[in-house]
Amino acid sequence: MTAEHSPTVRGMTDFFLQSARIGFRLWRTSDLPLACALWGDPAVTRFIAAGGLSERQIQARLEREIETQRCHGIQYWPIFLAATGEHIGCCGLRPHGDDPGAPEFGVHIASRHWRRGYAFEAASCAIDHAFGVVGAKALFAGHNPANVASRGLLTQLGFVYTHDEFYEPTGLRHPSYILVPSQVRPDPALNQTNRAAAATPRAPPRPVR
Ligand SMILES: CC(C)(COP(=O)(O)OP(=O)(O)OC[C@H]1O[C@@H](n2cnc3c(N)ncnc32)[C@H](O)[C@@H]1OP(=O)(O)O)[C@@H](O)C(=O)NCCC(=O)NCCS
Repeated sequence: MTAEHSPTVRGMTDFFLQSARIGFRLWRTSDLPLACALWGDPAVTRFIAAGGLSERQIQARLEREIETQRCHGIQYWPIFLAATGEHIGCCGLRPHGDDPGAPEFGVHIASRHWRRGYAFEAASCAIDHAFGVVGAKALFAGHNPANVASRGLLTQLGFVYTHDEFYEPTGLRHPSYILVPSQVRPDPALNQTNRAAAATPRAPPRPVR
């Protein structure tokens, strides 16, 4: 693996949320190389955007994430290995429908890191943050009907299937799920410091430009 394909973050002091192995920070405009390494990976976007994403589309996605944080205090936050600073994906929330109390949850992991439990660990941490700090009452999630990995992950997290919903980027009806706090299956490895922090509501992180 080349350094180009293994982007690292300088210093890990910008994490606003951390689990045993994973740190979360906010997207910055200078993160285009990280965004391209993640969303330029055809395995990652296979079930999200048919035909993949161009660099221009990835840049637009990055700008949208930054804007979502500015307007709503949430985004699909970039995530990093706490031990090395290597960027491994994104995990978080975005607005869905008309109810600000029920945002959409999502997680994308770079394919070279699949099947190491990172999605489950990051998701558990983000869900804890969503209910404990962001103030969400419920979380929505959906996946391409062919995405068995996503279905397995959502089920393992405690999400419950509710209906199929049309998703414009794929042109398909995506199985859709809801998670409420009483259904959460906690990650036993979730860092206790983070759990304590999540129990104490605090201001959402400031957007970084
Ligand atoms: C779905 C995705 C996030 C899983 O990431 P991951 O780090 O490999 O997942 P984990 O190792 O944490 O696995 C957690 C659970 O997900 C399910 N899962 C993950 N990959 C799977 C696969 N290839 N086939 C079936 N189930 C799978 C399993 O239930 C797994 O639990 P197990 O290991 O005890 O069987 C990853 O494949 C990905 O980023 N895909 C592209 C983007 C995407 O589809 N995101 C989902 C949108 S919500």
